[in-house]
Amino acid sequence: MEPTLPRPGGGFATRAVQGAAIVPEVTQKPVGPAIWPSATWAMPTSADVGDLLTDGTPGYVYGRYDNPTATTLHGLVASLHEAPAAWASASGTAAIHSVMSVLKGSGRILSTSRLYGGTWALLQRLANESGWVVDHADLLTADDVRATLSDDHTLVYLETLANPSTAVADIAGMAEVCRERDVPLVVDNTFASPWLCRPYELGATAVVESATKYLAGHGDVVAGVVAADTDVIAAVRHHTFELGASLGPFEAWLVVRGIQTLPLRMRASGANALAVARTLAASDVVAGVRYPGLEDHPQHALANEMFGGRGHGGVLSFDLPDRVAAEGFADACRVFARAASLGGTHSLVLHPASTSHRQLDDAALRAAGLGPGTIRLAVGIEDEQDLLDDVQQALAAAADLR
Ligand SMILES: Cc1ncc(COP(=O)(O)O)c(C=O)c1O
Repeated sequence: MEPTLPRPGGGFATRAVQGAAIVPEVTQKPVGPAIWPSATWAMPTSADVGDLLTDGTPGYVYGRYDNPTATTLHGLVASLHEAPAAWASASGTAAIHSVMSVLKGSGRILSTSRLYGGTWALLQRLANESGWVVDHADLLTADDVRATLSDDHTLVYLETLANPSTAVADIAGMAEVCRERDVPLVVDNTFASPWLCRPYELGATAVVESATKYLAGHGDVVAGVVAADTDVIAAVRHHTFELGASLGPFEAWLVVRGIQTLPLRMRASGANALAVARTLAASDVVAGVRYPGLEDHPQHALANEMFGGRGHGGVLSFDLPDRVAAEGFADACRVFARAASLGGTHSLVLHPASTSHRQLDDAALRAAGLGPGTIRLAVGIEDEQDLLDDVQQALAAAADLR
């Protein structure tokens, strides 16, 4: 292409600096997502800068507020969740903090007790140090919400698919109760992704996801998103940039790139997870397998209906007889990597009792719905046979330890 850009004037150092800010006019539509890493944006007058800084006019002014690559992500997430608007944050945790802060008002949160440990810790700290009031209850059905929601509660918080029990929440039923009682409902949809479940469509006020997991999908970025009505997202945007937790352009670009293959990855990982779950269920070393795709899962019918036949996700858990067997299984895995997180191309194995829940004794583990022999698998998109072979040889290694 002919160099048609104007040349900056001035001395060598001035040209070195100012030439970098001269961008070509692009009239063609890029097929791949664009990255705009500029931390700040120039305007013709100081008044224009002031207008942008005070939201008088829409546009980009400073990277902590917003960037065009994140705008692409916002549009994409809103579209996938069939919601009017969306916002991205530096992590799922930042997104959860923002949406709960703006929706809870001065009231009290009713949260599911089947909660991601990091969210549990965040709520605990906010309760201990910032005066938040948080109640936990086992919330899976509309009746559970009806029985526990008091007049003091101003926000209900759920997870679509619980970790590691894989219990499935009846979002539409619970959203109806919340609507009747005029209490906002926030749903963490990380384990399902918008491919399986769209809580906003089912009546939730806001959906939050750790985009680190299925949305980005390759284990190479930490990010979070919220999808909701425009007024909620406007408040989340403020909270996010005041916290300094906006998503940077490179991270936004990785999430946008990952989302393009979300349906393909979800289908592959769901099919692999079902095959792994069936293999585990057929083993006499395994005491119980929890996966919503198995017919004996307590919410199998609900999951089929809510996920529309698009699969049941990539996460499952199962029990081995004791801690020694479970550690033996995890340590023997060769294809499954021993690592936290989920939702990426790679299959991961986690022994919660010696990793994410290692502070808990056996009684506390049971209260959290775990045993010392529980294993969680986050199944990726590798070849099914390699995963099944890995599970079989790790089960044999665990059985040898008994
Ligand atoms: C269900 C769920 N929600 C939220 C988070 C937090 O996301 P992040 O690690 O991106 O802050 C996680 C992380 O594992 C998660 O599993």
